[in-house]
Amino acid sequence: MSKEVQVKEREQWGSKLGFILAAAGSAVGLGNLWKFPYKAGTNGGGAFVLVYVIIVLLLGFSLMIAEIALGRHTQLNAIGAYAKISKKWGWVGALGVFAAFLILSFYSVVGGWVINYLVKSATGALKVSDPEILKGIFGGFVSSTTMPIVYSGIFMIITLAIVFIGIGKGIEKASKIMMPSLFVIIIILAIRSVTLPGAMEGVKYFIIPDFSKITMDVVLDALGQVFFSLSLGMGCMITYGSYLGKDTNIPKSGIIIPLIDTAIALLSGFAILPAVFAFGFKPDQGPGLMFVTLPAVFSKMPFGTIFAVLFFILVLFAALTSSISLLEVVVAYIVDKWGFSRQKTSIFIASVIFLMGIPASLSQGIWSNIHLLGNRGFFDTYDFISSNILLPLGGLLLCVFVGWVWNREVCTEEITNGGEVKFRLKNVWFFLIKYVCPIAIFIVFLRSLR
Ligand code: TRP
Repeated sequence: MSKEVQVKEREQWGSKLGFILAAAGSAVGLGNLWKFPYKAGTNGGGAFVLVYVIIVLLLGFSLMIAEIALGRHTQLNAIGAYAKISKKWGWVGALGVFAAFLILSFYSVVGGWVINYLVKSATGALKVSDPEILKGIFGGFVSSTTMPIVYSGIFMIITLAIVFIGIGKGIEKASKIMMPSLFVIIIILAIRSVTLPGAMEGVKYFIIPDFSKITMDVVLDALGQVFFSLSLGMGCMITYGSYLGKDTNIPKSGIIIPLIDTAIALLSGFAILPAVFAFGFKPDQGPGLMFVTLPAVFSKMPFGTIFAVLFFILVLFAALTSSISLLEVVVAYIVDKWGFSRQKTSIFIASVIFLMGIPASLSQGIWSNIHLLGNRGFFDTYDFISSNILLPLGGLLLCVFVGWVWNREVCTEEITNGGEVKFRLKNVWFFLIKYVCPIAIFIVFLRSLR
């Protein structure tokens, strides 16, 4: 079969660090910097954060290990990996490919906002700390008709250009500088934000859980956010794992990646929510939260403009290393399955995604009166269906697959590199994957999707 041929030609990461960087690059993105703080803000702050952290501990690590192992074992894309082990399961991967489509459609819109804010901060248009003016700047831009679409097109073109070139050393090299820089700049921002007068209210809001706020909808949102932020539930880590050589330590990668990702999400919360309170913004204003709040923080810093420009460059980089992983899931599948050229496939898929993003962008402005699911417009519908339904469902099926269908010995062999790598929590991990995770996801679904 043509699959065999593909296996031999398969590219591999340049080094062990290369994989960690790429996988962490996929995980760390707009999900951490933009989405997590605003989701925390709309879902009651500390309560959401607590549920989020519990889900990462219970599900995040286990599923990360499972996806990487499945990918490396089969050396195939999301659909191929399932189908190789059991013919009947290919459709689970297909769900993932569909989710990637939906996610990238709105992700590229937000990526466009980031590029616009990079331009705005470089030209000094954001040197304001007045909440109303900043809200006006954000609202004015995202609700306009053409420019946001143009910017999301630019974002897709850059994404495309990177996927085009393949999994090159370029991204690996850049990641080595950009990821630590992002870490440093977020820490600086968090320190500035937390020390603003009046910030303590926000710190409390972010870390002290108000248990009365924990409803099943909050839990579902947190669950969806964990999957989204860790790039889990749709075969992204399967695809990335498939480019891995046999000597990588899977348990270690499966722990480091969620740790880095969660650290950045929490830091980003500390950079944004305390400032929200210090400047008298509202925490539950939705997708604009980061864009409205951070310029106010920059305006209160020495060299604010330089910080702002640096920050948006790093956010853009983080967003790109995530968007390439989303596009890669779709491209890898089509290239593996039909043997089309990487280039042509990438261009075609990126164009379709760009077109699907247009309604998402318009739903922030002239199409804001169009509601699809409940009172959700295109943007929120894409997000809800992908993050809150498809990803957790993909995760649930992944658990059932790894826990009940995949041969346990083969799976353990893969994770421990044939016994070479120590994995002391092997049995705990298996118990989580076989029982705890699928049952937990199932209950959340049952209780919240009525
Ligand atoms: N995790 C990325 C972020 O936080 C987004 C992302 C990239 C993603 N690949 C994914 C989300 C796969 C779900 C599945 O921005």
